[in-house]
Amino acid sequence: MDLNMVFHILMLIGSALLGPGEATTSKTTTTRRTTITTVTSPAPSGKDLTGKMFTLSRSSGSVSFYPPTYAYSLDSAPMYWTTSRPTSSWTTVKPSPTRGVSVCVRFVADFNSGDVNLFTLSPSSTPLSVAVSSTSRFTLTFNNYNNAYFSVDKLFVSLPLDTWSSVCLTFSSVSKVVQVFNGSQMSIRRVLSNQQFQWSGEPVLKFPGFDGQLSDVQVWDYPLTFSEVYDYMAFSRWSRGSVLSWSSIAFYTTGSALLEDSFYPNLQRKLNAGAERKDMKRKKNRLIFRVEKFLQDNQAF
Ligand SMILES: *[C@@H]1O[C@H](CO)[C@@H](O)[C@H](O)[C@H]1NC(C)=O
Repeated sequence: MDLNMVFHILMLIGSALLGPGEATTSKTTTTRRTTITTVTSPAPSGKDLTGKMFTLSRSSGSVSFYPPTYAYSLDSAPMYWTTSRPTSSWTTVKPSPTRGVSVCVRFVADFNSGDVNLFTLSPSSTPLSVAVSSTSRFTLTFNNYNNAYFSVDKLFVSLPLDTWSSVCLTFSSVSKVVQVFNGSQMSIRRVLSNQQFQWSGEPVLKFPGFDGQLSDVQVWDYPLTFSEVYDYMAFSRWSRGSVLSWSSIAFYTTGSALLEDSFYPNLQRKLNAGAERKDMKRKKNRLIFRVEKFLQDNQAF
């Protein structure tokens, strides 16, 4: 085996261990190590926002997300699907509104200036807006008109404390049941009246702006199961939306909205690196101890 081949195998192992998110990130270093391009399969269009967050502003910083293959028009001209579809494994597909829709996002905000207008799904056809109050209450507004209130105060699962509030909303087009989740808490499952909501399938999620941060936006064209909601809450890297996926997404910001490195993964990586260094030191000390012991046991030396 020549050196090149060994290197190639090492890169394969490395990318398998890192997982798709990080592997895609390491694609940025491909200029020097061209072998990586052959083992990763990043989406050909759309941005991988793994490890990133948006800092928004209530007065002047919004962001809208849409699939990379969706031609999103700002001047309200008709939107359409481009013909070429990306071929990566987490391709976004044209959503079907027949099963339902689920939206999951992570955010941090303070409520000093009142309720937070979190997001609006399908803003130009069948808007579904979600507002959050400081008192565990979510207000869903369907088609700018019908309100439904959800107290998210029932225990769902137990999870470690986290910086982020992780919120999921699930809607079934078949049963008309809506449920809201916030980390370890959930709401009741509420049946909407028939007139209240019908999802159009428009795959656009708009965040009109709040003072705070936003990350890990995922949208599915079906109601998530409890186990799928749990996967998202537990930061599973396999929790990826079928319509919008944070690792292959297109977006449009206005005003002062910023794209920044997320605080959580950076901190986590630093802690992991610290632990690894400590572990290495321990192993080295053990080795020195064993060598000394060997020398003692073999006094002949
Ligand atoms: C969501 O959960 C967080 C804790 O994880 C809590 O601080 C916050 O008040 C909750 N928000 C709502 C609207 O339930």
